Formats: sequence, C-alpha cells, structure tokens
Amino acid sequence: MPRLAVAPHPRPEYTAPAMNRRPGPNATPFATRAHKPIHFPTVNPYRDAHESFGPELIAAEDAPRRKGAWAAEFGRITPLNLELGTGNGSWLATRAASAPAEDWIGLEIRYKRCVQTAEKVVKAGAGNARVVRYSWFELESLFEPGELAAIYIHHPDPWSSWSKAKHRLIKPEFVAAAARLVRAGGELRLKTDFLPHRDALLAALPAAPEWQLIGTSDDVRSSGAPWPDEIVTGYQAKFDGLGLPVYAAWLRRV
Ligand SMILES: C[S@@+](CC[C@H](N)C(=O)[O-])C[C@H]1O[C@@H](n2cnc3c(N)ncnc32)[C@H](O)[C@@H]1O
Repeated sequence: MPRLAVAPHPRPEYTAPAMNRRPGPNATPFATRAHKPIHFPTVNPYRDAHESFGPELIAAEDAPRRKGAWAAEFGRITPLNLELGTGNGSWLATRAASAPAEDWIGLEIRYKRCVQTAEKVVKAGAGNARVVRYSWFELESLFEPGELAAIYIHHPDPWSSWSKAKHRLIKPEFVAAAARLVRAGGELRLKTDFLPHRDALLAALPAAPEWQLIGTSDDVRSSGAPWPDEIVTGYQAKFDGLGLPVYAAWLRRV
C-alpha cells in the first residue's frame, strides 16, 4: 500500500535557552534573550505559570526597570537582601517571613523553581519577598551600586569538571561586582557542598579589599554556621542527610 504523504509539521524557529550561559562581552542582556519569543509554549508549563503568577514573581523582561528603584517595588526604604539561585524557595520564604522589617529578593533562572519559590513566599505570607527570573551573571543590570545590604549564595552549581569550570559563579569578577553592589557594612554569605567554591571566594579576597572575612565553617551541620541566624536550604538538607560537609564563608563589606 502506498504511504500517505504527510505534510511536514511547520517547525517554529528554535532558540537555545540561555540557562547558565555566561554572558560574553557582546552578549545581549538576559531580559531580551531566549524567553522572549514564544517557541514551544506547551513544552514547559511553568513558563506560562511564571508569567501569570502575580506580583511575587517578576519576569526577566520586567526586572531591569526596577534597578535603583527596589524601594518603590516594596513601598518602603529598608535593607534589601538578595539570594542567588533560590532552588525550591524554602530558604527565601522562611528567611523573609522571619525578618519582616527587611526586604528580600531571590534570583532564579529556572521557570519551575521560580514558581515553586513564589508559591512558598505566598504560603509564608512574606509580602516582603519577590522572586526574579534572572541570571546571577548580570546582577549589575538589576541593582545600583550600594543598593544591596547582603548577598546570600547557597549551593551554587559546582560545574565540577575542568572543562565546565568557566560556568562557575564564584570568580574574582563576581567578588568584585558584589563589592560594588553591597553597601558598606553589608555582608556576603556562602554555603556550598563544593569546596573549590569556598576556596575560590577566599582566594579572591586579597584582590578585593572591600571584603573582610568574618568567619568560616568546614561543616555547618557538625561545627555550626559562622553566623547566628542559620536556616537550612533544600540542597543543604540533602547533603546533611548524606552526612557530607557543607562549607561556609561569611564576609563583611568594609
Ligand atoms: C544547586 S541549586 C541550589 C538551590 C538552593 N539555593 C538550595 O540551596 O537549595 C542551584 C540553583 O541555582 C540556579 N541557577 C543556576 N544558574 C543560575 C543563574 N545563572 N542565575 C540564577 N540562578 C541560577 C539553579 O536553577 C538552581 O535552582
């Protein structure tokens, strides 16, 4: 029997997602990359969900206009704190709910994790928190120098093979950018299961005299965190459950 001729399905042009891509010197801003054109809207249901979620979740294309004006977003002038890579959002929601006098922003690149974080923020009743879908490599598109009181980094992706090490967050350029964005007296906290991240942060300090090391921990679970107000994150709980160490470093912006 002759085969039926099937008309080829019209394929929309495909644009690779910008996930984890390091911006090169000529890169277009994150807010205008991959997610703008609608290609396969049904492939990731969280893509639509993140756009229609509500004020707790800010899409990439809406975020840069808030640069220097985050106080207006929250309707008050108070310390503004930033978590990089919220994951499921448990830390951001808990921290924001426990510190209602301050404002909290979580940056996350994955649609699903943005939505999960926003759901946790709503459930916690944390009107002082927002999750923003944006890349942590482009913080200076979102914040003015000195606009932040603190940056919290919890278990950034390790990119453990040498060929992928270029994708790591903790590099001298990041440490210098963080010093510009965090005001004097502010802080930077890192928790990681991947010791090279903590080593890279400490190794960057001689070239970044704006940062002063306050304390470290080689195992937050057994030795305690350097800071007094410790909250376990989703990934941290996994490493705790496996009996593996979580390393920490606490810096003050002088
Ligand atoms: C290993 S998970 C840790 C999640 C959470 N901080 C925790 O401790 O449970 C790293 C998170 O960073 C996010 N991430 C990776 N690259 C990112 C980027 N360039 N900008 C923002 N978030 C990113 C991932 O999507 C993921 O949710």
